[in-house]
Amino acid sequence: MNRRTLLLGGSALALAGVGAAGLAGALSPRRADLAGRPRLAMPRLVDTRESGRLELAAQDGTVAFRDGVPSPTAGFDQDFLGPVIRMARGPLDVAIRNRRRVPVTTHWHGLMVPGEHDGGPHSQIAPGADWTPDMEIDQPPATAFYHTHAHGRTAADVYAGLAGVVHVTDGRDDDRGLPATYGVDDLTLVLQDRRFDGRGRMAYDLTMMDVMHGMTGDTLLINGQIAPVAVVPKGIVRLRLVNGSNARIYTLFFDDDRPLHLIATDGGFLDAPRALDRLRLAPGERAEVLVDLAQGSPPVLMSAGDPNQGPGGMMGRMRAVLDVLRDRSFEVLPFAIDEAQTARITRLPDALDGTRPDLASAVTGTRRISLDMPMNMGGGMMGNGMMGGGMMGGGMMGSSGGDALFGLNGRPFAMERIDFTVQRGAVERWIVESPMLSHPIHVHGAMFQVVSEDGGAPRAESLGWKDTVLVTGRSELFVRFDQPASRSHPFMVHCHILEHEDRGMMGQFTVT
Ligand code: C2O
Ligand code: CU
Ligand code: CU
Repeated sequence: MNRRTLLLGGSALALAGVGAAGLAGALSPRRADLAGRPRLAMPRLVDTRESGRLELAAQDGTVAFRDGVPSPTAGFDQDFLGPVIRMARGPLDVAIRNRRRVPVTTHWHGLMVPGEHDGGPHSQIAPGADWTPDMEIDQPPATAFYHTHAHGRTAADVYAGLAGVVHVTDGRDDDRGLPATYGVDDLTLVLQDRRFDGRGRMAYDLTMMDVMHGMTGDTLLINGQIAPVAVVPKGIVRLRLVNGSNARIYTLFFDDDRPLHLIATDGGFLDAPRALDRLRLAPGERAEVLVDLAQGSPPVLMSAGDPNQGPGGMMGRMRAVLDVLRDRSFEVLPFAIDEAQTARITRLPDALDGTRPDLASAVTGTRRISLDMPMNMGGGMMGNGMMGGGMMGGGMMGSSGGDALFGLNGRPFAMERIDFTVQRGAVERWIVESPMLSHPIHVHGAMFQVVSEDGGAPRAESLGWKDTVLVTGRSELFVRFDQPASRSHPFMVHCHILEHEDRGMMGQFTVT
């Protein structure tokens, strides 16, 4: 473990690898040793605006992430992850080919499209087959996410690399005064933690604890790179942050306490930038922030530890002891200034054009969603009367997926069961509860507003339109259903900790 490798502390075992150098490395800004580190690279950009077409192939790959040791991976049109896809309002003819030997899907997480185009578990693409939805893009600018969603193997396959980023754009960011030069002052950052085995290969090997808490890694990848440095002009820089991790919850901040100016959440722009000291980002969430890099020496983007892996998690006692031994925050991305580049944007915009209509008067009904465990796994502990379903499924240690350890409203996911039906155009008030761990709830085909979190006002990062939000106890949402979904291609609602989703913490609904 060298100083550049981040110790994220995913498990108690990881502590054994924390020497004094590791501790110092994880805590110091390390400006001195930026030399020799790779420059942050952007994913290839595929702009569909001229052609109105998008062709991608899901394929297997190989990447030497560290020390020249190859790891088996997967990606869209490349070895690991996929290109950033830029799209605008209008028709988009898509063709996805599956060149792998196992089924994949391509789910458009954050695109508001009907169930048949959503790419969920019912849109499996068999090995060698194509999927060709003729889509219509019709939504405000946003940063979205695409990834495979073949039920029972989503976690392993996203971990291997079957994910990427979408930029929905209207081409008007200049008018908004926003940085918009791809890879220069407009950076896309896919944050993923991964675990490497003793031989240096990326490993996905689950213990029971990984299943319970979600799989966290000991090494951070940004766009597939280990320990890169972002080299930027001396001005305002836009970061499109995508939490592409299977389970890790990031709490981002700068080492010199400069603010992150939140400009967009999952569904698009806010009405004005909002200065945050810290930005929490759970799996599946996206956030766009502006950072002022004109002042002072360039900072390091950091993250605090994952609350699900900390004292609040199931290993609470042991973690509490470990936390005394070290600060669990870790480096995400150091910045360096390229004096030769001229900054195009040097001041923050005062206002943005996102809108957040008051939905309270439009609410048509209330629905309760509990992110829990079915039956004997924990129903009793939660005291909500869900004892006894006997839905344990197979062995508890299985990493093959499909073992129903988790549920939604006490029932594990079933492909053939529609859990509820919503009227198209409805706005529902959802009361979502996470009785034990914190779970990020994600809804397909709909955006929502967070009305309250744990009995209080929503957190600052929950104020825009959202499709995913971390529920730490009890949250209230107003969900608007504009897209149709039929029985054959229903929408999903699930926990975006992928190990939980694969093991049953998912339900499905139609919109008619
Ligand atoms: Cu990003 Cu149903 O998922
Ligand atoms: Cu989704
Ligand atoms: Cu979960």
